[in-house]
Amino acid sequence: MEVLIFKDSQSLASKSADLVESQIKTYPDSVIGLATGSTPLGLYQELIRRCNEGGLNFTNVKTFNLDEYVGIPADHPQSYRTFMDENLFNKIDIDKSNTQVPDGMAENPLEVGPAYEKMIEEAGGIDLQVLGVGTDGHIGFNEPTSSLGSITRVKTLTQQTITDNSRFFEPNEFQPKLAITMGMKTNLDARRILLLAHGENKAKAVHDMIEGPLSAFCPASALQLHQRTTILIDEAAASELSLKDYYKFVGEMQDDLVRKHRPSDWIER
Ligand code: GLP
Repeated sequence: MEVLIFKDSQSLASKSADLVESQIKTYPDSVIGLATGSTPLGLYQELIRRCNEGGLNFTNVKTFNLDEYVGIPADHPQSYRTFMDENLFNKIDIDKSNTQVPDGMAENPLEVGPAYEKMIEEAGGIDLQVLGVGTDGHIGFNEPTSSLGSITRVKTLTQQTITDNSRFFEPNEFQPKLAITMGMKTNLDARRILLLAHGENKAKAVHDMIEGPLSAFCPASALQLHQRTTILIDEAAASELSLKDYYKFVGEMQDDLVRKHRPSDWIER
């Protein structure tokens, strides 16, 4: 795991946008996995800015979102489809038919997962997956004790996640307790992973993900098995890491080494 620690969320957003931009510029038909939540918003704003300024285009890019609530329609204000449309897709030059979000209103939600996996496979697999992490260490909606070998399927949300996400719903509004989410294996199959986290409320999850044991109790710890994962965090999210200084030192050493000897390694397909 490569751990990059930033002084603020703007520099974190800018670096993550650089990595996504390199991927798309090198492979304009890249398949990008996307996440919702407040964490990637800075990245999305930066991508929108770069696209509108003409330096980056998404015309041949395909995207697959991580997850969607079960039981609310795509045009519901809190659906992840609406979130993606409003915070990214409507503001860049992507072809909407190239953007996929699991169907939370499918007649049989159990059939959505295998079909979604097939679509990802037919698109050639995910080149770069953007991830956030929940306060309990979940990725997408892979809640604690999710199989680390799981694929896209229906998951029941934990009370912690329901509470964390209740801020987006009106007090008496129906709030879904089920979601369709890519599995941990789906994520681990991505060629490159960028996981973003900021804020002190993510410090424990970030610690468990990077330094904790590999355990289904913290699904994000499965990323320890992935060969090309970069974790981009701010100082607050890094505050519980015991080897924080070491990661900064590794960063300096690697920068030098990669620049000199492996210039294209981060974006190979
Ligand atoms: C939700 C999403 C996750 C996201 C998490 C954290 O549960 N399903 O993909 O990573 O929230 O959200 P935030 O970035 O708002 O902290």
